[in-house]
Amino acid sequence: MSADIKGKSWGKPNVFKHDREPMFGNGLVMVEGEEWVRHRHLITPAFSPANLKAMASLMVDSATSMLDRWTNLIDSGQQEIDVEREIISTAGEIIAKTSFGLSYENGRKVFEKLRTMQITLFKSKRFVGVPFGKFLNPKQNLKAKKLGIEIDTLLRSIITERSNKPRSGKPEKDLLGLLLAENTVEGREKKVLTTKELVDECKTFFFGGHETTALALTWTLLLLAVHPEWQKELREEIEEVIGDGRLANIDVTMLARLKKMGWVMNEVLRLYSPAPNVQRQARQDIRVDDLVVPNGTNIWIDVVSMHHDKKLWGQDVNEFKPERFKDDIFGGCNHKMGFLPFGFGGRMCVGKNLTNMEYKIVLTLILTRFSFSLSPNYCHTPSILLSLRPMHGLPLIFKPI
Ligand code: HEM
Repeated sequence: MSADIKGKSWGKPNVFKHDREPMFGNGLVMVEGEEWVRHRHLITPAFSPANLKAMASLMVDSATSMLDRWTNLIDSGQQEIDVEREIISTAGEIIAKTSFGLSYENGRKVFEKLRTMQITLFKSKRFVGVPFGKFLNPKQNLKAKKLGIEIDTLLRSIITERSNKPRSGKPEKDLLGLLLAENTVEGREKKVLTTKELVDECKTFFFGGHETTALALTWTLLLLAVHPEWQKELREEIEEVIGDGRLANIDVTMLARLKKMGWVMNEVLRLYSPAPNVQRQARQDIRVDDLVVPNGTNIWIDVVSMHHDKKLWGQDVNEFKPERFKDDIFGGCNHKMGFLPFGFGGRMCVGKNLTNMEYKIVLTLILTRFSFSLSPNYCHTPSILLSLRPMHGLPLIFKPI
């Protein structure tokens, strides 16, 4: 293979860039080359385990309100709940809190507009990445564009308000707060993120981070509903590691000891990868052995197919077997690039640790309060609409424990 194959020789397909502009702008998911190196360098420290620790209680609060709502529904006689919708909205609230905070009045407004934009774009998502797709839904695209401008203005006002706060004040512990603190480190002036870049990163965290995490949890609940023996295994592990599962004063180091939950998460991400494919576009002619990939070629890496390939995983590839990750981080896959739920190389997902923490917190809270089974109304139709989701939601029947 040629030494030419460097990350920087590849970009993100132009057609996706245009369509996803209102969601990601020029945030980390989309930037390329030296600009990507600068962004990645400034953003990675915000996601360090020490920084993420401070966000755990925000996650517990949002998940607890969701579960209290479920308890009220069950008490009023409604045992069936569409968990996909519930979890997406809670994960949205969590990512808004952890990205730019909701305590500022404008924070909540941004969150509400981002959700409206998400729904608006979702309606026309079928055409995202389709050449001239934006002309197929002019009304929705116009609405998304207008919302995009309003969101940018609100985020800018939050950033200005925070940047003008006296330095003696307590720094905000969310991602925006951490990035603003980085920006004020002396000697960094030339490398800092501009206000426009910070706005785009806040949107990127929202759109890149909440639906993916929510879908990982949703597919987990489906698989645990049809494999009650794994609900039992996980409850026993929680009891052993955390006691009664109350996370009021959560010590996040405990989460790392939830090993079986980690295997379950990996197995769910293998079978139902929320990010079903990864795309690249060659930014120059790239030689791979005897083959030349011409500049401008779009490459589509089909993660779902790779995760279901018998040649890579063996005959039991379609079975739910979390134990395949017990002693092997590659889950027994015979190629170390065969398991790619978070992407690969330098562009590997920056939010992986945040997702890990959120997944374990929310799942622990659900498992200690309820047992659940599949509703007869569930219709299994996994569909790729940017992410891999259950087309008709996920109705489950809940029983309090
Ligand atoms: C289950 C949850 C998640 C999944 C499956 C997932 C998946 C991915 C994948 C496959 C990539 C690589 C894309 C590519 O190479 O083109 C990626 C990148 C990225 N993810 Fe995630 N992600 C998740 C959660 C999150 C969260 C919680 C955040 C932020 C709060 C986040 C932010 C990002 C960003 C900013 C990038 C771009 C990184 C770069 O290009 O340097 N993701 N993610």
